[in-house]
Amino acid sequence: MAELRIHKVKDFAAELSVPGDKSISHRALMFAALSNGPCEITGFLASEDCLATMDALTAMGVEIETLGAGGTHIRVHGCRGQFQDPGKPIDCGNSGTTMRLLAGILASQPFVTTLTGDASLSKRPMNRIALPLEKMGAKIKGQGERCTPPLTITGRPGLTPIDYESPVASAQIKSAILLAALSAEGKSTVSEPYPSRDHTERMLNYLLVKNIREGDTVSIWGGQTPESRDIHVPGDISSAAFWIVAAAARKGARLLISDVGLNPTRIGILSVILRMGAKITERIDESGCEPMGTIEVVGDGLVATEIGGAEIPTLIDEIPILAVAAALAKGKTVIKDAQELRVKESDRISAVAENLRRMGVTVDEFADGMEITGGTTLKGAEIHSLGDHRIAMAFAIAGLFAEGETLIQGVECIETSYPGFIREIEQLQSMSR
Ligand code: S3P
Repeated sequence: MAELRIHKVKDFAAELSVPGDKSISHRALMFAALSNGPCEITGFLASEDCLATMDALTAMGVEIETLGAGGTHIRVHGCRGQFQDPGKPIDCGNSGTTMRLLAGILASQPFVTTLTGDASLSKRPMNRIALPLEKMGAKIKGQGERCTPPLTITGRPGLTPIDYESPVASAQIKSAILLAALSAEGKSTVSEPYPSRDHTERMLNYLLVKNIREGDTVSIWGGQTPESRDIHVPGDISSAAFWIVAAAARKGARLLISDVGLNPTRIGILSVILRMGAKITERIDESGCEPMGTIEVVGDGLVATEIGGAEIPTLIDEIPILAVAAALAKGKTVIKDAQELRVKESDRISAVAENLRRMGVTVDEFADGMEITGGTTLKGAEIHSLGDHRIAMAFAIAGLFAEGETLIQGVECIETSYPGFIREIEQLQSMSR
């Protein structure tokens, strides 16, 4: 198991950009493959999760060329959704997005495919997508009541359209249904309790696929082929989040992040950090497939806040690093309505609580969140990533504020979303001792 040693730094000033957005990179690959011709993708995230999607599509007969820039510039040759039987199981690795979105595509294919995953993915519930996809006519077989992987999908060309009310605000559920609905015979709708990230809908619009959003409901008409177009993937706000907190929690620190995605359904972290006391300014460019731009963060002493309700889907992946911000803030921060965290790459409520306690922080854990008493000096500790990239990176940032050494065990998982993070944090530490 690889480890990372972190020590306290006395200041923080950085100008950087982060690798491409993971959610958008998966979608760019899949929609380009469904399109009617070649699409060049720039800013692609060449991380383990997105490479799992790339390998899956290649196994399904899609031609993908790497054009350069460290694998971030690729060309995907769209096959109009006429995929080949991969003839063997597809390994989705650690990536829930690969498995759930791909299931939406496979639901209408005229062959049987098995999707497998690593130990973490093999524990995650797939009944949330199996249920609607079966209603549309596919056959999906997983393990046990929660339909965990391996998942065997028997596709059915000419799926039945669906009107589906998702019990969970989840972009993965919504996207799996929208991908299947592209091949259904008629109009399908999906609604959710709160709006989740809307990258799929934006990409559908960008590739000229007719869909309509009314409140929390999206409708799409089947039988459409996305138009091939080049796609630029902005930097991942979920990766930027680690540096945003590193700067926000330190009086006088300054951070400039350029070319980062600023989709309104993803930037809950900016509102939270702002109300905790940091200064944030944004410059947004809305001319591409996704809004993107530059953020400047100037740090100050943070104060506690409350996070819950409709804000949760807009920052769901940032809760581990926001919990670290809460530990560094004065007062008690409450995070609620976040029960989805229990079924991510790890149980992120218990992983965060356990590791914060190791660093000397008082945390009360609830079924759907936690209360964190912040403001005491963090103690360096041995941290267990539990194979979860966001836990490993959140606690590496915590280590920059802690007295004594912090040892993060199991940092290889960082490669799933942020190649280059370890290099970046080591450089930061060597510049600021
Ligand atoms: C994702 C959606 C979120 C997020 C995940 C990526 C996506 O999951 O946690 O990291 O790309 O659609 P849910 O939609 O299931 O909440």
